[in-house]
Amino acid sequence: MQIATTVSEVRQHVRAWKREGLIVGLVPTMGFLHEGHASLIERAAAECDRVVVSVFVNPTQFGPNEDFESYPRDFRADCALAESRGATLVFHPEPSEMYASDACTFVDMDGLTGQLCGKSRPTHFRGVCTVVCKLMNIAGADRAYFGQKDAQQLAVVRRMVRDLNIDVEVVGCPIVREDDGLAKSSRNTYLSPEERTAALVLSRAVREGRALIEGGERDGERVLAAMRRTIEAEPLARIDYVDMVTWDSIEPVRRVDGPVLVALAVYVGTTRLIDNFIWEG
Ligand code: PAF
Repeated sequence: MQIATTVSEVRQHVRAWKREGLIVGLVPTMGFLHEGHASLIERAAAECDRVVVSVFVNPTQFGPNEDFESYPRDFRADCALAESRGATLVFHPEPSEMYASDACTFVDMDGLTGQLCGKSRPTHFRGVCTVVCKLMNIAGADRAYFGQKDAQQLAVVRRMVRDLNIDVEVVGCPIVREDDGLAKSSRNTYLSPEERTAALVLSRAVREGRALIEGGERDGERVLAAMRRTIEAEPLARIDYVDMVTWDSIEPVRRVDGPVLVALAVYVGTTRLIDNFIWEG
């Protein structure tokens, strides 16, 4: 496995692969890789000839009071995991390689970003779209892999790729969970043992919501109210949102008549965690 820190190095590798007619997969990450990322890399390795994993904590997607500085980083461990799961190249740029000091072009989206995480993190998706668009341009990949744990991000990226005619297939991959149900996340490392136990309330609420819909409940308010009650019963948890939107246009909806995304963001202590399920109808 090779490591590149500059855009031109990545392009050289990709050009050579393309000349050989090889299929290139891209797995964009912010590092501190876990089994969720590993599943994306494995899938990319199974479906593509070469796999580029980007490891870049993207400053533009963090708000002013968010955890950009303290976001966990362990590049050595990331390389070991990426290599063991089939990555060909890790792209690990400095922020200055990705953003010129006078950069003034961003990718903004009018729809899809006003609900869920976009409500509490108003500049987040502008940063995500900008960096993902840049990574797609840099890697020239045929396929790009994203986890469903960030379901709104997956929908936003798909829409951006469609709207901007980016020549890449976006592949969504299932949420990977710990044995006890907690969705894998780099931010789980922030949790104290007590908070780690309390965090199970997210996956419990997800299971409850899904069971209600599977059982025939079509009133979204009732589903959400039951999920909120579960979370509110946990003293260490504080709801940011528990909401239902159409999948995959991310519009508010209160009847389960077609595919819906039921998503939640919950603070456990000071750590904000997300989880969701998609009901395909
Ligand atoms: O999901 C993430 O880790 C990030 O939002 C992404 C897609 C790597 C962009 O920085």
